[in-house]
Amino acid sequence: AQQLKGRDLLELNDYSPEEITYLIDSAIELKKKQKNGEEFQPLKGKTIGLIFEKSSTRTRVSFEVGMYQLGGHALFLSKNDIQLGRGETVGDTAQVMSRYLDGIMIRTFGHDKVEDLARYASIPVINGLSDLAHPCQVLADYQTIYEHKGKLKGLKLAYIGDGNNMAHSLMIGGAKLGVDVSIAGPEGYEPDAAVVAEAREIAKKTGAKIVVTRSPQEAVQDADVIYTDVWASMGFEEEQKAREAAFKDYQVNEELVKGAKSDYLFLHCLPAHREEEVSTGVIDGPNSVIFDQAENRLHAQKALMAALMS
Ligand code: CP
Ligand code: NVA
Repeated sequence: AQQLKGRDLLELNDYSPEEITYLIDSAIELKKKQKNGEEFQPLKGKTIGLIFEKSSTRTRVSFEVGMYQLGGHALFLSKNDIQLGRGETVGDTAQVMSRYLDGIMIRTFGHDKVEDLARYASIPVINGLSDLAHPCQVLADYQTIYEHKGKLKGLKLAYIGDGNNMAHSLMIGGAKLGVDVSIAGPEGYEPDAAVVAEAREIAKKTGAKIVVTRSPQEAVQDADVIYTDVWASMGFEEEQKAREAAFKDYQVNEELVKGAKSDYLFLHCLPAHREEEVSTGVIDGPNSVIFDQAENRLHAQKALMAALMS
């Protein structure tokens, strides 16, 4: 925990496997405390600013509630309401906010904006989703998998669909934690080649296998976890029709999941489009843990904020 104080979280590759494992363990402990009604308020008197340039349900609510439970305060800063949305520079915004706040979370489009904010800010900056990465989600995801499977190392996660921010962060996180990750998607929608190379480099040390394939059947074969996400992420809405056509053979449904282990877990970061990327039967079926997963955003981010900001 000591080494995390004051750090940013832009993507999981900034953190060692030990640091990620520490955050997952800490999230599980804070979850227990909360369920037992035990107070844990290491952030009394501290404030985090939450900058949103895209919509959110889970991220906003879990950061606001999490900060409140830790004894601190969270400010919701929508792009429509702050001067950043009218052209004030990221550098000025970061330096001004650093004079008031103890931490900043930003959800935006280009990852360079998250990096710029972190460069100019003197307080921890947390990536609450960029086009490149969604590390907070993936902390909660691996926590959820660990809680249900009792281990992470040696498991196989199949991600079916768009090679987007979720695919990237799941790959990096899996590589760090020793989870094999197979990504299956159509031509033109592969994960970023640089991220794949980076994940493979990290995986050399942990023994994880990182596979990118066109075949969803190959990806889900003997999988312990099946994960999918929307076909058109925020910012890509106008491509919805083209993407429906491109991804039509990549729906996670009853037929596809037959290839996985019988006790596979189904995860989705949400929001979901039922009958597009996933059939109703799978997402609402007995193997789905989507609401445990959504809940864990709260616990994972409490662990994160406590580690970075106290
Ligand atoms: N999974 C996730 O980040 O959800 P929101 O967009 O609702 O925050
Ligand atoms: N890939 C999705 C995730 C939403 C939480 C998006 O970026 O819109």
